[in-house]
Amino acid sequence: MIQLLVRDVRLRDDATGETSAVDVQVQDGRIHAIAPRGAESVEAETVVEGHGAWLTPPYVEPHVHLDSALTAGEPRWNLSGTLWEGIACWAERKPTLTRDDVVERAERTLRWYAANGTLHVRSHVDVTDPSLVALDALIEVRERVRDVINLQLVAFPQEGICSFPDGEELLTEAARRGVDVIGAIPHFEDTREDGVRSVEFAVDLADRLGLRVDAHCDEIDDEQSRFVEVLATRAARSGLRERVTASHTTAMGSYNPAYSYKLHRIIARSGITMVSNPMVSLHLQGRFDDYPKRRGLTQVKELLAAGVNVAFGHDDVMDPWYPLGTANPLQVALVGTHAAQMLARDEIEETFRMITTRAAAVLGLDEEYGVHVGRPASFLLLPATDGYDAVRRQVRPTHVVAHGRIVAETAPAVTTLTWPGEDPAPVTFAR
Ligand code: FE2
Repeated sequence: MIQLLVRDVRLRDDATGETSAVDVQVQDGRIHAIAPRGAESVEAETVVEGHGAWLTPPYVEPHVHLDSALTAGEPRWNLSGTLWEGIACWAERKPTLTRDDVVERAERTLRWYAANGTLHVRSHVDVTDPSLVALDALIEVRERVRDVINLQLVAFPQEGICSFPDGEELLTEAARRGVDVIGAIPHFEDTREDGVRSVEFAVDLADRLGLRVDAHCDEIDDEQSRFVEVLATRAARSGLRERVTASHTTAMGSYNPAYSYKLHRIIARSGITMVSNPMVSLHLQGRFDDYPKRRGLTQVKELLAAGVNVAFGHDDVMDPWYPLGTANPLQVALVGTHAAQMLARDEIEETFRMITTRAAAVLGLDEEYGVHVGRPASFLLLPATDGYDAVRRQVRPTHVVAHGRIVAETAPAVTTLTWPGEDPAPVTFAR
């Protein structure tokens, strides 16, 4: 008897768009077999009827800050809506952090992620705090949630590496305690030279320890902020390449076409991946502009066209930098379609890939991701035809399966409509 049988689901070939009706067998937490619908009769401990739902790999969150999640308004609200006031609010909240406080908020947020269908999360954690209390708490959380969510931790020097007292030592100590990724924030350093040095320090540290790099890079409406060229070049020369990620890069929204052309080439050649956070960038950037007011996003479409892997992230969930959010990547994709003007049919489909396969590539999930025999049985049943349909109708997964276990089930909401001249009847939303 096998562990789990998921009957009558559709798999979709991303290259051709063709779908096939199959039954999926799960054993020992991995996909054991994929057979044409009804072709094989097997006994299973648990049987799920898919009713023709689309079986997709889970969502992947490539960029969130779990240490600050759910602290919006503590001790005060960010009234200006700038990144800088957010950092000031957080600096006031940081001294009150405790292990229990961080564990409770991070786990609550991760429960929302799992319920929404997200089973891989990369979280930054601020290490410009001599106590490193949030880091220790999140290392503990990483272990506690392992059976459901694969959590990657980034040592994130929120207040700088070279411009913060003992910044280099704190980052090195964070790496020693067991993070997966080294961060940086070059545009926040005091000088351009400090910014360059901080990137070099972060890449060298990661290279020495066999870790990845994910830098908050050029998150500012300043066309003179040009650290992504430094990061990409260091990634290429160190050989780390696709193990390096540039997050935000919102200054690219202000670069001139000649420099942008040169930069696309440098980035594409380096192999680094990029993360754009459309909800938060739309909110935080453009705050110092009169009209015309900039959108504050990186060059998402242009980077994709240049062959660069770009994913969409949430960034913040109810914290000093963003007061909204339900930890749902599908919301991020919907906002991303508008913010990046990706509203052609195929572009909307692309935004779904930016919260699934493209985000998985940012985390380097490789063989641990995707619906194939032998891989972890971690997937969603989505009552949607494709990514376009899922993004448009914001379709929730009916089932979230992690390592062969059903971890979330959602009954579809039913609205009964009484239309003039008709009896009350359930309305099917916009299909
Ligand atoms: Fe961020």
